[in-house]
Amino acid sequence: MENKTSERGVWSSKIGFIMAAAGSAVGLGNIWRFPYMAGKNGGAAFVLVYLVFVFVLGLPIMLTELVVGRRTQRDAVGAIKTLAPGTTWPVIGGLGVLTGFAILSFYSVIAGWTLSYVFKCVQWGNGNLFPADGLNDVFNACIVNPTETIGFLVVFMLLTMVVVAGGVKNGIERWSKILMPVLLLLLLLMIVRSLTLPGAMAGVSFYLKPDFSKITKDILIQALGQAFFSLSLGMGAMMTYGSYLSRKDNLVTSGVMVCVFDTLIALMAGLAIFPAVFALGQEPAQGPNLIFVVLPAIFAEMPGGFIVGIFFFILLAIAALTSTVSLLEVVTAYFVDERGWKRKRAVFTIGFTSMCCAVLAALSWGASDGLSNLPLLNIGFFDLLDKIFSTYSLAIGAFLLSFFVSWRWGLLNAIREIENGNSHFSKRKLLRIGSITITPAVIWGVLAKVIAPAGILILIIHSFNIGENYAIFLKVVSGILVEGTVFWLLIRYLSPSQALWDRCLLMPLIRMLILTLIAPLLMLIPVVGIPLAVIFAITVNFLLLRSFAGIRRQAFWRIGAIVTLLEIVVWYFFF
Ligand code: TRP
Repeated sequence: MENKTSERGVWSSKIGFIMAAAGSAVGLGNIWRFPYMAGKNGGAAFVLVYLVFVFVLGLPIMLTELVVGRRTQRDAVGAIKTLAPGTTWPVIGGLGVLTGFAILSFYSVIAGWTLSYVFKCVQWGNGNLFPADGLNDVFNACIVNPTETIGFLVVFMLLTMVVVAGGVKNGIERWSKILMPVLLLLLLLMIVRSLTLPGAMAGVSFYLKPDFSKITKDILIQALGQAFFSLSLGMGAMMTYGSYLSRKDNLVTSGVMVCVFDTLIALMAGLAIFPAVFALGQEPAQGPNLIFVVLPAIFAEMPGGFIVGIFFFILLAIAALTSTVSLLEVVTAYFVDERGWKRKRAVFTIGFTSMCCAVLAALSWGASDGLSNLPLLNIGFFDLLDKIFSTYSLAIGAFLLSFFVSWRWGLLNAIREIENGNSHFSKRKLLRIGSITITPAVIWGVLAKVIAPAGILILIIHSFNIGENYAIFLKVVSGILVEGTVFWLLIRYLSPSQALWDRCLLMPLIRMLILTLIAPLLMLIPVVGIPLAVIFAITVNFLLLRSFAGIRRQAFWRIGAIVTLLEIVVWYFFF
């Protein structure tokens, strides 16, 4: 036990925590991913949706992660184990650990590119002027060159490992404190240059004047994913960082500050980039190469621009480093806390494994044909990881966590923990509506318990409707998912034993598996197909209810009846 505590650490100060958490949040997500996503998805409309998601869904979930982390002082899996021992709930943490590993594996590829651009700026400074017209060619030559991309990503990953192996206080905290403010200043400088280019205003209006007709389902889910990605939410990173906080710290102000700072940096990055995109006649929707083509062009317009360029790409690499550190830290904390590994062993084993995946991701930008265009899927390995893990996995993780905290662990327990370090949380009266007094705790409660889980679920399900070929199949899956969740809540309400509910955790999943495999087959039978599938679904419900829940006779029929009704409504609605 002794040994275990000494392998952990604590932040030396509150500002140290905020800087480290902001360091995790601020990274390529803000400066590389946000502008290119905004450019691809219609500019200002995307930005607006993004802002709403950050503050309505991101901030409450940030607080949720911090409170779980500090309360349990454990890694992502251990935290949930502590709050719900002997149950299946810790799979939420497991999903987070896996996601952290996957994001690390493609993130470091882009981080490698930024290192590579540091050297390009040095070369340009050495007499080779910026090849202002050929910036696209420079970029394209860079990403298909395996020696260059793999070399830099290996360097970058090694740096990450060294910092994480150094532990919380010496490694993570010290770096973040100095470098974040410098990045801010440099961005300001670039905004000024970008805004003063002739023709910049077209970019400003693209970036800030929303055209609401551009908001589609696809934009919504992408903005949601981007909000979680940028705030480092949905996979236990903030939970792990929160676990190094002390009881005296104010979680609410810390969370708000991290969200505000992160958003500020993203907005500033956009403001530096879009005016220049339009002034230089570039295409805003060009995708992941956006900043690598546009930023050097801005530097070229400055006297001694290559020096600014060198500084900027170094800082960007460092911002990326404080982010990859948090990704590796989540996975490491799991192996140290749950598996009893030594910190160094965990760091290097995970780091090298992730590096191998990263090499595959680096080769999928054109260096290897097979990896760049995976058979059947028609997208590259990098895009595959990015799509699965930075959009869906984070959203699902955030949904499950907020669901777990507010419905299983209990809001009151969470609020009591938040009140350590913020004694006004459920006392300060913000507003009175009739007999209801609105306090910060009430606002958070409603957001975390209802708005966030429901909102995320709806967005995920809606995003499934995009594909045309799979529309029906996905409708079935999403219908079953919704039903499964309702099913689950019902059991809790009609039979208020927590143990029962825990035992039912797998039920919706197993239901989904059985039904998606068999129901479509039944539906192929002419005439009786659909009624047969409905009867089949109802039977499965009853059987599972019996075998998993073991509830009292009365409750069994009551729940069974409601679920059957629900089943019929859902089938009617979806077909
Ligand atoms: N937030 C970081 C960025 O914007 C990336 C990141 C670090 C992250 N840790 C995370 C994303 C955890 C999701 C989850 O660059």
